[in-house]
Amino acid sequence: YSNVFFCSFSAASVLLRVKLNVRRHLREKNTIPKIFAETVHRHGDKTALIFEGTGERWTFRQLDEYSNRVANLLLERGFKEGDVVALFMENRSQYVGIWLGMAKIGVEAALINFNLRLDALVHCVTISNAKAVIFGSELTDAVSEVHSSMGKAVQMFCSGDWDPKRVPQGTECLEPLVAGAPSHLPPRPDHRLFYIYTSGTTGMPKAAIVVHSRYYRMAALVYYGFRMTSDDVLYDCLPLYHSAGNIVGVGQCLIHGMTVVIRKKFSASRFWDDCVKYNCTIVQYIGEICRYLLNQPVRDTERQHRVRMALGNGLRQSIWEEFMNRFNISQIAEFYGATECNCSLGNFDNKMGACGFNSQILPFIYPIRLVRVDEETMELIRGPDGVCIPCKPGEPGQLVGRIIQNDPLRRFDGYVSQTATDKKIAHSVFKKGDSAYLSGAEGKAGMAAIADPSHSTNLEKFVKDMEKALPPYARPVFLRFLPEVNKTGTFKFQKTELRRDSFDPSAVSGRLYFLDSSKGRYVQLDEELYRSILSGKCKL
Ligand SMILES: *[C@@H]1O[C@H](CO)[C@@H](O)[C@H](O)[C@H]1NC(C)=O
Ligand SMILES: *[C@@H]1O[C@H](CO)[C@@H](O)[C@H](O)[C@H]1NC(C)=O
Ligand SMILES: *[C@@H]1O[C@H](CO)[C@@H](O)[C@H](O)[C@H]1NC(C)=O
Ligand SMILES: *[C@@H]1O[C@H](CO)[C@@H](O)[C@H](O)[C@H]1NC(C)=O
Ligand SMILES: *[C@@H]1O[C@H](CO)[C@@H](O)[C@H](O)[C@H]1NC(C)=O
Repeated sequence: YSNVFFCSFSAASVLLRVKLNVRRHLREKNTIPKIFAETVHRHGDKTALIFEGTGERWTFRQLDEYSNRVANLLLERGFKEGDVVALFMENRSQYVGIWLGMAKIGVEAALINFNLRLDALVHCVTISNAKAVIFGSELTDAVSEVHSSMGKAVQMFCSGDWDPKRVPQGTECLEPLVAGAPSHLPPRPDHRLFYIYTSGTTGMPKAAIVVHSRYYRMAALVYYGFRMTSDDVLYDCLPLYHSAGNIVGVGQCLIHGMTVVIRKKFSASRFWDDCVKYNCTIVQYIGEICRYLLNQPVRDTERQHRVRMALGNGLRQSIWEEFMNRFNISQIAEFYGATECNCSLGNFDNKMGACGFNSQILPFIYPIRLVRVDEETMELIRGPDGVCIPCKPGEPGQLVGRIIQNDPLRRFDGYVSQTATDKKIAHSVFKKGDSAYLSGAEGKAGMAAIADPSHSTNLEKFVKDMEKALPPYARPVFLRFLPEVNKTGTFKFQKTELRRDSFDPSAVSGRLYFLDSSKGRYVQLDEELYRSILSGKCKL
């Protein structure tokens, strides 16, 4: 994403339009449930959500009624505006209906990543102050493992296949309760919408607050920016606990009346079949999805679909053209927008390899910048005046958005900079990923550096504990043992040198291991293995 081009007139007018709409919604106190009510009015019997997996379809009216029932049930149970309920659930349309129902009475949903287990799971539920947890039956074991650490006062509801013998004591079965609750519209307060968690690449996940206007803004920006219509059908196979899946994707349904197809998990082999089956016109992606699709054998459906646009971020410039040509997709809509940062970038002009526009021309309409960073430390580079230096077109940089703390409209906005998410954006903006690409495997592979002066680590136990506690994507592919981990002057871990040494055995003194996924254990990393990883012979 090193190419930057300048904001064109059309992009500027889109931004103005979104900005004016946001203003109007704020003035009229239009919350997402209120905007959704207008959508239901316009599109009542149209299909709102399709759940690929059961093929279940919900119309806008059904989604509206379901969410009313959820709202009324929670009211009956004493939940009130400002309370938080954690949602820990894999798939299905109910996911959307449940958080929307909560929003209707001002109860905030904490959207928990369903890959989390043990400490990380308890942490996320605890920091949200949730009074209840609604979990999917597929996650019963994960909930049972931590139930005792969550506090007795936390009410438990299970959605999905009900097995009273397996759920933690005191758990209630949600769906019959919802079905029995009244379907009339509950009273509507205005409040925060939900919490979305950062990925926690540097420590535990942090909760970012999403207010109604931010939800609207993110969804509207891509809708108007990329000229979508309510007749589009959007294929959403991204997790619903993140903003891409739940706001940029599902938001098109709630706000703009689009049919959205939800899939539990991304499947490369089913992707185009699904698109054909549901007449999808827009697909959502993240970089990895495009790569997996290109690695699939050629099949007929990959050109028989009606998809005209792929919407997402992280498509590498080197495969951008291949992707468009092979799958006959006429538009790639790349954009960035961090949940807790009110800034977004998009290539609204369908320009290849462009990460968006740099708003130097229109800083008042859209105060965001790409600024220079030190590629090694990922720290912002500042001029003699202490101010960051904007990138020139073509220069890599980090996306920053201006936040004005005392702006009353932003009173609930999430925290600023120095977060895990900053780093995530930085990773995608930098060329860093490229070095991984040279090793024949695009993407990220983590290394854990372990201070073990007495050589007492039991690797077998380590693997077992790790498999329980961490989802596959978070498990370190490399391990490095050191007598101690050096700290900086301010007692932060010094990562620069570790990063520089990488996993090259000739640069690293001490033991180095590689997670051999076929064997399910760590093996010592020597020169030979190192070379075969670099050459792509040994797959990560
Ligand atoms: C979730 O999806 C999977 C596969 O797509 C399906 O087998 C499972 O039954 C679904 N779970 C629920 C609760 O709908
Ligand atoms: C897809 O479009 C075709 C032709 O317009 C129509 O017959 C079919 O019912 C549509 N499929 C779905 C799932 O809406
Ligand atoms: C590519 O897609 C367009 C519609 O976007 C369609 O008109 C055209 O026939 C397709 N081309 C091929 C070769 O499939
Ligand atoms: C971000 O929020 C500030 C207020 O805190 C506002 O002035 C600015 O316009 C917002 N940026 C965007 C892109 O909406
Ligand atoms: C830690 O600091 C010592 C002393 O400065 C240095 O020799 C050593 O290489 C550092 N270790 C790592 C892993 O960077």
